[in-house]
This record gives sequence, structure tokens and C-alpha cells, in this order.
Amino acid sequence: MTAATSPALDAAQSLFSPQAIADPYPLYAQAQEVAARQGHGALLSVPEWNATLAFSHEAVSAVLRSPAALSGQGFAQGGEAYPEATLVLRPMMLFHNGASHTRLRSLAQAAFTPRVVAQSRELVQSRLDTLLNAAAAKPSFDAADELAVPLPVGVITEMLGLKGADEAKFREWSGAVAELLGASDGTPELMERVERQAHDMRAYFRGLADELRAHPQPGLLSALAAVEDGGEKLSSDELLANAVLLLAAGHETTTNLIAGGLLELSRQPAAWAALVERPELAAGVTEELLRLTSPVQRTGRGLAQDFQIGNLTLPAGSFVGLILAAANRDPAMFPDPHRLDPFRSNSARHLAFASGAHYCLGASLARLEGEVVFRTLAERFPKLNVPTQEVKFRPNFVLRGPLSLQASLA
Ligand code: HEM
Repeated sequence: MTAATSPALDAAQSLFSPQAIADPYPLYAQAQEVAARQGHGALLSVPEWNATLAFSHEAVSAVLRSPAALSGQGFAQGGEAYPEATLVLRPMMLFHNGASHTRLRSLAQAAFTPRVVAQSRELVQSRLDTLLNAAAAKPSFDAADELAVPLPVGVITEMLGLKGADEAKFREWSGAVAELLGASDGTPELMERVERQAHDMRAYFRGLADELRAHPQPGLLSALAAVEDGGEKLSSDELLANAVLLLAAGHETTTNLIAGGLLELSRQPAAWAALVERPELAAGVTEELLRLTSPVQRTGRGLAQDFQIGNLTLPAGSFVGLILAAANRDPAMFPDPHRLDPFRSNSARHLAFASGAHYCLGASLARLEGEVVFRTLAERFPKLNVPTQEVKFRPNFVLRGPLSLQASLA
């Protein structure tokens, strides 16, 4: 006997199918057609999941900005089966709300200042130049593996002040965390791997906060250990969790912006030609690429109170899936939404960095990295050739980007 199903459940389940990895946009469109038939605009009710999926810019922004919509419900509770992983995940600001979120975020923000970000421009440029010089010496190179992956991870590890063996360990840990954040459900294998790595992470960090306070080193990690808010400091576990969050949030996403952005530019050659002619358009192009690639495709919130939206009341205790990628191509906000238009006046209203209390803490660093990369490529390698066919994407429903991108620079 097969389980009873419904068009809404089918549409919601399709967002976790192999096609959702290859190309989720037609599936978002189909889900919105089912939602329209339900009569709630771009809101799809999925009673079997006690959930609603939101696709429009208006609905997604409204939920993100509401104090009734809470982040990280699944991660903040439970976790008895994986105690070490829970101790690493639970203190991440992403999973906190209200006063405890404000405290963690403001401590991290005190270290991750606009000045620190602005000063990283030279670091980004010099790491990029090294990678591009190596790539230019070959007939072709993998723009994902040899550029989009190493650049952001190199930048953030150097900003944190990690080096050598520590850098490799951190990459492995944050990779596992990113995999977990992007999985539809942590499988036992993945959870056990994260549990083992969490054990190693906690052993490494035990006492490190105190040591860094006593003997500060250059970099954000020491700055994070030192910040105080009304006499409050980050505990060892809080320092670990938020350093791993900065690393995981800071490289999988920016990697996907760079590799996905190159693919999009190659699919829209008029935009690439405009950038080659006027490299100073790089900041506007980066904004459009954030909108079009949506490196974080989706997020979600649990409702603490009933939430009225359009003609629908979403009940307290239910879940809202927020499809950022669909909102970023909502024609009501962005006319001709699939076109990369470097002159679009409202590109920056995209929700690629979310909105509200959890608005991406690293948005200015990600923008800077994108701008430097796309500008430098257009200036130095106008003949850049990136394939548009048969591109495989990372097996992750949330963090979307090409797995490999065999390209040539000249
Ligand atoms: C939060 C996207 C780069 C650090 C977020 C959120 C999104 C996002 C959508 C909110 C998630 C939610 O509310 O559910 C992106 C994209 C990036 C990027 C698309 C690159 C293209 C970075 C970088 C860093 C960073 C470079 C740091 C080095 C964070 C942190 C949070 C966050 C710490 C949690 C903020 C909070 O909970 O208050 N990011 N991010 N991100 N991001 Fe980013």
C-alpha cells in the first residue's frame, strides 16, 4: 500500500529530489502553481509537515523580519544522542533568538568590524592573484576547486589567525558542519561523523579562550576571545561554535557565489561583455549574481505565535520554509527576473543574505570578495571561458553551487 499523498506534499517533496540539486528553479515554479491553486498566492500549505513554504519576496521578507519567527528550532532543542555535536552547534548565534542572540551577535560583531573587513581587501587581492597566476600557467583549470574553494577559506582562516595544521583541521570541521546545515535531515552516518569531529574540536578548544586572552595572537580568534559586553565574555564553547560558524558560513557560501557566479556570467554573455568593457561595474554585477545564484537557497523559521500573512493565518508551532532563491527571482520585485542586469536599480534588495535579526554577519566581506574576483577576472582575463553544459552541483539542498567548473583563462 502506498502512503496517501497530495499535490502540495508532492511539490514540497520534489524540493528534496535529485532534480532540486541539478536545477531547482522549475520546481520552485511548479510548487508556486500548486500554491496558487490552493488560493494563498505564493504560500504553499503542507499540512502533512505542519508547514508552509513561502516563495514571494514579500512573504519571505515579512517572516524574516518578524520577532514571532524563531531561528534554529531543530538545533536548539534535543540533541541527547549527540552530546558533543550539540555543544558545538547550540551556541551558534544562528540558532539563538531574542536577548541571547543579541549577546552572541554583538560580541562577534565587535571583533568583525567594518574596518577589519575593509582592511582585508589587500589580503583578498593577493590570495586571488596567487591563485590566478597558478591557473594562468595551465591550459585549463577547475574554477571551483582551484579558485572558488581556496580563496574564501584562505581569506577567512587568515582573518581568524589560524595557520598550518590548524587551518587543515578547521577546514575539515567546518566542511562537516556545512554539510549538516545543508542536509534535509542529518543521517546517522553524518551525525556520527560530526559527533566525532565535535569531540576533537572541543578538545582543541578547551582552554584556548583563556590562553588567547592571556597571550593574544594576531587575528579575529584572539579578538573574539577578548571582546566583552558589560563584563561578559564568550565561553570556550561559545568561542568554538561561533568561530566554526564564521568559517563554515564564510566559505561554502562565498565559494558558491564565485563558482555559481562564473557559470551565470558565462550563460549571460552580454553581462560579461559589459563587465569586460567597464570593470567598475563589478560591485553591481556581484549584487546581481548574489540575487541570481542565491548561494543559500532556503532557510526556515518556527512560529512562536500565529502569523497573519495575506489571507492566511500560519499557526503558532508550525514551520515556515523560506525559499530565498525563489524570492530573489520574484517578478513582482525584479522585472525580467532571470536576466543579469548590471544596471538594475534594486538588485541589492535581494534576500541572498536574508533579512532581519539574522541578516548575514559576513555580507560585506562576501560582497568584497565577489567584487574583487569578478573585477580582476574581467580586467586580466577577458577571454575567460567557462562551460555552461553538464555542470554538476554540490549535493546540498541549501548551499548551492557547482562542484567543478573546468575553465580556461585565455
Ligand atoms: C547568516 C548568506 C557569507 C557569516 C547568513 C544568512 C544567510 C547568509 C542567508 C541567514 C540565515 C538565516 O537567517 O537562516 C550568506 C551568503 C554569503 C555569506 C549568500 C556569501 C555569498 C558569509 C561570510 C561570513 C558569514 C563571508 C563570515 C565570515 C554569517 C554569520 C551568520 C550568517 C555569522 C549568522 C548571523 C546571525 O545568526 O545573526 N548568511 N553568507 N556569511 N552569515 Fe552569511
